[in-house]
Amino acid sequence: MTGLAAGDDGALGFPEGFTWGASTAAYQIEGAAGADGKGPSVWDTFSHTPGKVRGGDTGDVACDSYHRYREDVALIASLGLTSYRFSISWPRVQPGGRGAANQRGLDYYRALLDELGEHGITATATLYHWDLPQELQDQGGWAARDTAGRFAEYASLTAGALGDRVARWITLNEPQVVSTNGYRNGDHAPGLRDPAAASAATHHLLLGHGLATRALRAAGAASVGITLDLHPVRVLGDGGSAGLERGRLITDAAANGIYLGPVLHGRYPEHAPEALLPPPALIAGGDLETISAPLDFLGVNYYSPIFLRAGDPADLRRNEQPARCRVPGVVEYLPDDLERTPMGWLVDASGLHQILVDVSRQAPGLPLYVTENGCAAEDYVNPDGEVNDVERVRYLHTHLEAAARAIKDGASLAGYFVWSLLDNFEWGWGYQKRFGIVFVDFGTQRRIPKASAAFYSNVVRANAIPLLPAAWPR
Ligand code: FCB
Repeated sequence: MTGLAAGDDGALGFPEGFTWGASTAAYQIEGAAGADGKGPSVWDTFSHTPGKVRGGDTGDVACDSYHRYREDVALIASLGLTSYRFSISWPRVQPGGRGAANQRGLDYYRALLDELGEHGITATATLYHWDLPQELQDQGGWAARDTAGRFAEYASLTAGALGDRVARWITLNEPQVVSTNGYRNGDHAPGLRDPAAASAATHHLLLGHGLATRALRAAGAASVGITLDLHPVRVLGDGGSAGLERGRLITDAAANGIYLGPVLHGRYPEHAPEALLPPPALIAGGDLETISAPLDFLGVNYYSPIFLRAGDPADLRRNEQPARCRVPGVVEYLPDDLERTPMGWLVDASGLHQILVDVSRQAPGLPLYVTENGCAAEDYVNPDGEVNDVERVRYLHTHLEAAARAIKDGASLAGYFVWSLLDNFEWGWGYQKRFGIVFVDFGTQRRIPKASAAFYSNVVRANAIPLLPAAWPR
């Protein structure tokens, strides 16, 4: 069966064999920050620097999944999920980012993979979800070209040791966020505010992806892709003006094209603002060929779109902010009629439909996976001991429906991973923001599946979205 099916009961169906999963990342859940020979990462350093993370929270313990992975795998199995996306901590495998592997680090991931295998759950492993070994940062981090080579070496070594147990490899998670938040704004590790370093990091991350892809293939990896955070750019109201159209092209290039362009087409986009592009001197001959080596799939993380409208950047109205495109007469804004999550992120499921259909137009036939989608909510355990996260149920319902419709409209969507399996260390927000479909009481490490876990599990088991909301928690 291909495409969307509407069953007799009116349910929206997904294609047979559709992959259903949940995502996590090493630093956000593992804890065990110094266990078994692990070296420090930039996130260890950053979270231990006063004033960087809300309330001084760190990932030292997090969800303690390093020790509780069996319980976490059992949870995944109990929900009926077919795949688990987790990330491998580079400094667990290579404490200083180079040289021989730390066997005890590899042993942990082998044990996790074996546990998944025993439950019939496939592994979708991300090699880099932001926890660069601190020693490599001390030598320039992603602003240094050498880091791309080190990353390929780490990829090769890890795939050599674990490859037989991994169904899908994801090289990088959201290189855009690493460059923008880590090197340009400084609100993520390593906390730099250095535009030149940020542009260099963009290119070296992409090069690292390309070199790692080659290394993974040489090690016999089954399937290789990259995960990008994508942001549909939407113009509401009078979208017809030349300024707004130019603004849309530039914004799309800045937010998406700088990463999608090199990976899919071997070139940086023509409309991208020069300030964001790596200077030509950093782009060696052959780099773009390496970066655009064919992929087996593309991972798409979707949370929120970007809205543009006509406005005066010098006289911003409520909900408006200066536009990154810097086109005169254009502003970015947050529409009043869209809900916002506690992160302040707009909720707009139609943006997921738009981005999936758009990317499939750009890369016909390339399998796409939504590798992250979900929302923060103000979850609490009620007097019955339950977490009734109605906002997240609604969020997942509308976004899964958008994903199903995108398939109908031509998107080659092969799977969906909710962010996140567990409440976890949400980077600069610490433990304040809860994204899990499973509640974590961080004091006791007790896991409580939320109403959204039950809802999601029903969708997964039916491989379809029931259309009758009466059956869902309110
Ligand atoms: C994404 C990150 C993920 C998580 C979600 C909320 O940008 O990849 O680790 O923090 O946002």
